[in-house]
Amino acid sequence: MSRVCEAEGMIGIDEVVHYTRSVRKRERFMDRPFVRQILRLCPDGGAILDVGTGPGQMPMMLAKARPDIKVHGVDMSANMLATARRGAAEAGVADRIDFREADAKALPYPDHSFDMVVSHVMLHHADDPTVMLGEMMRVLKPGGRLLVKDIRRTPDWTIAPTARILGAFIRYTPEETRLYDESIRSAFTLKEIRAHVRRMPALRHARVRSVQGLWYTIECVKGAL
Ligand SMILES: C[S@@+](CC[C@H](N)C(=O)[O-])C[C@H]1O[C@@H](n2cnc3c(N)ncnc32)[C@H](O)[C@@H]1O
Repeated sequence: MSRVCEAEGMIGIDEVVHYTRSVRKRERFMDRPFVRQILRLCPDGGAILDVGTGPGQMPMMLAKARPDIKVHGVDMSANMLATARRGAAEAGVADRIDFREADAKALPYPDHSFDMVVSHVMLHHADDPTVMLGEMMRVLKPGGRLLVKDIRRTPDWTIAPTARILGAFIRYTPEETRLYDESIRSAFTLKEIRAHVRRMPALRHARVRSVQGLWYTIECVKGAL
């Protein structure tokens, strides 16, 4: 079956509340492994941008783990950002995270601003992912690293059972399971994302890898000018 692309921003307050609850439940399986991967790659004192930061759990975990780094998060949803700012204040890291409302297709930063650009479970909202990936590469410093992780769309007949089994494992509510099912249907297959990446000269050195059959990562070091 072909892709059924979700809307870009997660704008509505109900959707934001459901999503934020589901993030807490899945943290151990999805978010923490990604944060560990980022921390292995981030240089001391570096500046990191998280694109499509949602309720801001990545910047918060990064800021708590590494006081030396400066973390930035962008999202186009004001409700997500309000949740993120509240969470950062409660966690005592608000002064080290800069959350901004912005479209990932037109990032509000000059070229070569960040040592690392990361994005978690966001790319599947894009109609054409090359526009967002191009922006992420633009704001990276030469020698900086891109690390993107997202859900991978699997054959149609596997989607409902995958969402159900994973949902039961993570203890998602029926609504949270429905949101996850929709996200899988909106995601790229490994073949599709590899084809998009191949079209981008800036990503010619990128590696696209499957992660446990359920996700993929895109990793790239930006070449020297
Ligand atoms: C599924 S959530 C992921 C949030 C977070 N990164 C995480 O790991 O849970 C996707 C987020 O991307 C944001 N988003 C989607 N399209 C966007 C765009 N064009 N620009 C900025 N944010 C976008 C949505 O508003 C939403 O908060």
